[in-house]
Amino acid sequence: MPTDPRVSEASRLAGQVLDEVEKAVVGKRDALTLVLAAVLAKGHVLLEDFPGLGKTLAARSMATALGLDFARAQFTPDLLPADLTGSFLYDQRERTFEFRRGPLFTGLLLADEINRTPPKTQSALLEAMQERQVTVEGETFPLEAPFHVLATANPIEYEGTYPLPEAQLDRFLLRVSFGYPKRDEEYDVLVRRLDRRQEEVDLEQVTNAAGVLEMQAATETVNVDESVGRYCVDLAIATRDHPDVLTGSSPRGSLGLVLAARAWAVIRGRDYVIPEDVKAVARSVMAHRITVKPELWMTQASGRRVVDAVLGSVPTPGTLESFSRASGGS
Ligand SMILES: Nc1ncnc2c1ncn2[C@@H]1O[C@H](COP(=O)(O)OP(=O)(O)O)[C@@H](O)[C@H]1O
Ligand SMILES: [Mg+2]
Repeated sequence: MPTDPRVSEASRLAGQVLDEVEKAVVGKRDALTLVLAAVLAKGHVLLEDFPGLGKTLAARSMATALGLDFARAQFTPDLLPADLTGSFLYDQRERTFEFRRGPLFTGLLLADEINRTPPKTQSALLEAMQERQVTVEGETFPLEAPFHVLATANPIEYEGTYPLPEAQLDRFLLRVSFGYPKRDEEYDVLVRRLDRRQEEVDLEQVTNAAGVLEMQAATETVNVDESVGRYCVDLAIATRDHPDVLTGSSPRGSLGLVLAARAWAVIRGRDYVIPEDVKAVARSVMAHRITVKPELWMTQASGRRVVDAVLGSVPTPGTLESFSRASGGS
């Protein structure tokens, strides 16, 4: 059975977007694919890493390639909720209050260094992410779709930060880290910069807001076999039973798993999900939703390790062939 044409088209565009972003960002294909998968799944991403690893560059490039409006908000310690949402300003001549929209009103928002800002402002962001609307002085303004947040955070060990509470971390579909480039990649960053004789990389726009909405709609049509759905649930439950764990992944985690796996399948050009798609996104979907026991905080125990362990222990359903047959027969 041929692949659904909407899915093929979404997949083709996704590949083109990634190729375009890679003109600017060197050697981060996997991380960039995850970020794009989150957008296709209508989610938000937390990019957790040290400064200088190309997070801002990646966010900006992704917005350009996707053809989305881009805004950046630097989450300094004195940033106020109104600096994000916008506020009412008095118009002297008209003698009325007029709403001046803040940076939340955009397609792709880079929320930079969110753990430098106190909880009140963090909540304003997380509320907007969840509700896709903002309320200012009792008046509610919807945020037009697509609206996606790429938030960056320094690793928790960093001093003077306000770590996000678990309940808020749960709002991010994926947590992705870039990590340091390989030696040759890092050299490539230098060479490319010298070759182009300017700081900025000029990127082409691959699609636009309407195109992104279509890619998301195509993602919604992707088939999920019961065995794959149950596999997502089994993985989430297994994180709750792991001996290192204080709180495991919530049902929002298993839901996130199936939604992100579906987007991953689309990027891979399939209109059905295989267990490998689930495995590909599992760490990024679940690790940040797991709290290890406090007595283990000084050890190697981590959400990521727990996810690796459950991926190893929970039986993988079926085989690739039986999945394509199942999808062909439906
Ligand atoms: N993987 C990479 N590919 C291309 N350029 C990179 C990469 N990592 C870092 N750089 C360079 O370093 C600069 C700093 O990156 P930036 O996106 O501001 O980092 P961050 O937002 O993570 O602090 C970029 O403008 C870019 O010139
Ligand atoms: Mg930055």
